[in-house]
Amino acid sequence: MDLTKLTAVQRKVINKNYKICVIGAGHVGLVSAACFSELGYRVICVDNDTNKIKSLKKKILPFYEPGLDSIVIKNINKGNLVFTSALEQSIKKADVIFIVVGTPSLADGSADLTSIENVARTIARNLNSYKLIVEKSTVPVQTGSKVKETIYRYRKNNTEFDIASNPEFLREGKAIYDFFHPDRIVIGVEHDRAEMILKSLYASIKAPIVVTDINTSELIKHASNSFLATKISFINAVAHICDLAGANVKEVALGMGLDKRIGKEFLNAGLGYGGFCFPKDLEAFIYISKKLGYDFKLLQEVKKINDEQRRYLVDKIKEHLWVLKNKKIAILGLSFKPDTDDMRFAPSIDIVSSLLDEGACIKAYDPQSNSEAKKVFGNRKIEFAKNAYTAVKNCDCVCILTEWEEFKKVDFSKFKKLMHYPLIADGRNMFDKKQVEASGFKYIGLGT
Ligand SMILES: NC(=O)c1ccc[n+]([C@@H]2O[C@H](COP(=O)([O-])OP(=O)(O)OC[C@H]3O[C@@H](n4cnc5c(N)ncnc54)[C@H](O)[C@@H]3O)[C@@H](O)[C@H]2O)c1
Repeated sequence: MDLTKLTAVQRKVINKNYKICVIGAGHVGLVSAACFSELGYRVICVDNDTNKIKSLKKKILPFYEPGLDSIVIKNINKGNLVFTSALEQSIKKADVIFIVVGTPSLADGSADLTSIENVARTIARNLNSYKLIVEKSTVPVQTGSKVKETIYRYRKNNTEFDIASNPEFLREGKAIYDFFHPDRIVIGVEHDRAEMILKSLYASIKAPIVVTDINTSELIKHASNSFLATKISFINAVAHICDLAGANVKEVALGMGLDKRIGKEFLNAGLGYGGFCFPKDLEAFIYISKKLGYDFKLLQEVKKINDEQRRYLVDKIKEHLWVLKNKKIAILGLSFKPDTDDMRFAPSIDIVSSLLDEGACIKAYDPQSNSEAKKVFGNRKIEFAKNAYTAVKNCDCVCILTEWEEFKKVDFSKFKKLMHYPLIADGRNMFDKKQVEASGFKYIGLGT
């Protein structure tokens, strides 16, 4: 590299002497901001939710993510990490800006890009020096060119800038590990200087880097999430066949997954996917494909299988308990997956609602998301328990909706003594059917 040809920003990047602005202090923004500061960069994390920023300034995190609190606190104390709602000033101070705002679904399935557009306009109006503007939010293909157009339209002078795409693949619950040990880093750029800045930013992270154009980078993210969702729906469809044929989906998945071309991951039959990413990204990918002229029927079916899976478990419980009215059902696990308190699009929402609609009495317990769940279910009648044992007391069925590690260690003999009727509906196929039945329970699994 010819160091004499470096721009001022490039020099700063190499010396870690430059400022990153992360816009959005959510599950991805806060983790990214904290982890960049942990790498030694100076990071300003901005959010327009003033309450969130007030709490963060007091070192109170807005959600549960293992290991995040210590990194945030350490880097606030070091002065590497600052929280603010002052977007304009933060943009002016920054050399690299990551846009990490939410991109939720609209009613027609398309991604709501209002926040992205708002942020792009504000960046344009505050462009006081060269900046690299990086989309980290998950966005439909061709969003980068819209962001670029917006900045050209609203900027007040001819200050140079670059747009880049750097989609995020971290998993909630394992977000810190994933930031520092990603399977790959994807960088979509138009110019070498943007590539150089992003590569040096991630220089201390050992991972293959895929450098491509912005459209391709945006598409990699949608295609990846849609493919993973397809794998989940595929194995859930196989689980139905297993139920009909008397086969065991866990063993089918094992036999399939050992084939390196298939792989073991994402072949766990269960209640299907939820969370803030897969449902909305799949919808957005179906929508943008249609807009571009391709009817992505495969993904429509993936979504349909996923939606049906929730009802399937409720129907199985009904087969055992017959009338659900006044039956007491314990729910273990509410968050959309373990190690997070995130309730967004959690399967528990549909399942608990269906059970309540049928007149069942619900006592629920989640190790982290009881308080989030209270907000989600509002004034629906749910009793929240402090642990799994108080939840199952006098129940006719215990229904496992999230595969938290602590549930793997429950004492079934204690459950049996506490419960009114020993029925386990294992929505995550966590347990071995034979072992559970050997301890005197009736067992409902999905494809097992
Ligand atoms: N959650 C995940 O696991 C995950 C993983 C990979 C990618 N993504 C993608 O990353 C993006 C962010 O997801 P998230 O889960 O962090 O969302 P989130 O809802 O947790 O956080 C978004 C944050 O952006 C803030 N915000 C919105 N508009 C703003 C504005 N104009 N100015 C400043 N702040 C603003 C919100 O207040 C919120 O705090 C989405 O596009 C998502 O699809 C999420």
